[in-house]
Amino acid sequence: MPALVLLGAQWGDEGKGKATDLLGGSVDYVVRYQGGNNAGHTVVVGDQKYALHLLPSGILSPGCTPVIGNGVVVDPSVLLSELSGLNERGVDTSKLLISGNAHIITPYNVTVDKVTERFLGKRKIGTTGRGIGPTYADKINRVGIRVQDLYDESILTQKVEAALDAKNQMLTKLYNRRAIAVEQVVGELLGYADKLAPYVSDTVLVLNQALEQDKVVLFEGGQGTLLDIDHGTYPFVTSSNPTAGGACTGAGVGPTKISRVIGILKAYTTRVGAGPFPTELFDEDGEALRRIGGERGVTTGRDRRCGWFDAVIARYATRVNGLTDFFLTKLDVLTGWEQIPVCVAYEIDGKRVEELPYSQTDFHHAKPVYEMLPGWSEDISKAKSFSDLPKNAQAYVKALEEMSGAPISAIGVGPGRTETIEINSFL
Ligand code: IMP
Repeated sequence: MPALVLLGAQWGDEGKGKATDLLGGSVDYVVRYQGGNNAGHTVVVGDQKYALHLLPSGILSPGCTPVIGNGVVVDPSVLLSELSGLNERGVDTSKLLISGNAHIITPYNVTVDKVTERFLGKRKIGTTGRGIGPTYADKINRVGIRVQDLYDESILTQKVEAALDAKNQMLTKLYNRRAIAVEQVVGELLGYADKLAPYVSDTVLVLNQALEQDKVVLFEGGQGTLLDIDHGTYPFVTSSNPTAGGACTGAGVGPTKISRVIGILKAYTTRVGAGPFPTELFDEDGEALRRIGGERGVTTGRDRRCGWFDAVIARYATRVNGLTDFFLTKLDVLTGWEQIPVCVAYEIDGKRVEELPYSQTDFHHAKPVYEMLPGWSEDISKAKSFSDLPKNAQAYVKALEEMSGAPISAIGVGPGRTETIEINSFL
């Protein structure tokens, strides 16, 4: 019953695509359990580079069944264009399964995301503008539209009416926008029904049966631990649970089934959008990390904010996710620095603090306490085993492991599929 969760240990964009793809060959099912097309994975296969936003990265592994779980929010137009883009490049997508209980990002959810961000002004979250938050809000308010609703026109119409009633009041009276017509939305959504039909299934049943048959199931989190609606830097977070527990609710699998939880950890830190980030750099080091690391959002095209590694966050990720392993990515980006600062604790109002403060105010005041680790200048991208790494790179990895509270079982030393050092097998 090997059920693995793979999730971001920081603020997302840690390089999960590479990790899932590395495991892809031996995995039977790759499941997304939360988020939507706000995620962005870049997967490099041979000389081909794929940018995926909604589809699980397992879609690129021929033996693997990709699954969009009930906890995901699905924009049908994005999904269909992502599928046809892959088909044009010869990727077979016919195995995809989509939960009938997943919620649909409707056109009005996207509109509401954009207008509310604009009205927040200086206090905006910096969302991806894809309608993620408003769709989850509708789900919780029990006025959401689910994939299964596409197959009953009368129910769909009633539900869209219920959802639009209040929203049209808000759009016209508060935000000075035009009302959205029910028929137009229903017409658009019904247009997707036939195209999605071959993929829609009872994914909870499929996944639990797969686990009973000892299949390998990989749950792939979007975003990252610090963007979790409950455990992240609220309110500067996404509207779902990327943390490990989200895999259970977002896929319908019990916690007793999960055997391994792997946190993807970048060798430095990045963040997109607004919110606190203690180790953020505003100098040429930050610019160099951004340039060398290619730190530009796959989904939004926005430059990522960059900073040094933060061990306080890594320890926190270990705790809230019950991490069993780390996959350390992008170690090669740090090649060339004489000394590499690592944040080992925070100073908050003159006091040294070792663990992430629960108070938002304290976290906003946290200043990083750095320890300097010696750097290396050798090219590490060809390293195949840990011992191939220069001594200082080995020491950097070991120091991070000790500070972060879980073993580092794999290390990314370059963007390509094979540029990975495996220390302990994940399976
Ligand atoms: P939303 O998920 O579009 O609502 O955006 C909420 C916050 O999460 C914003 O700060 C986004 O930049 C951030 N975010 C959402 N998805 C990702 C991701 O895949 N990587 C990094 N940040 C993300």
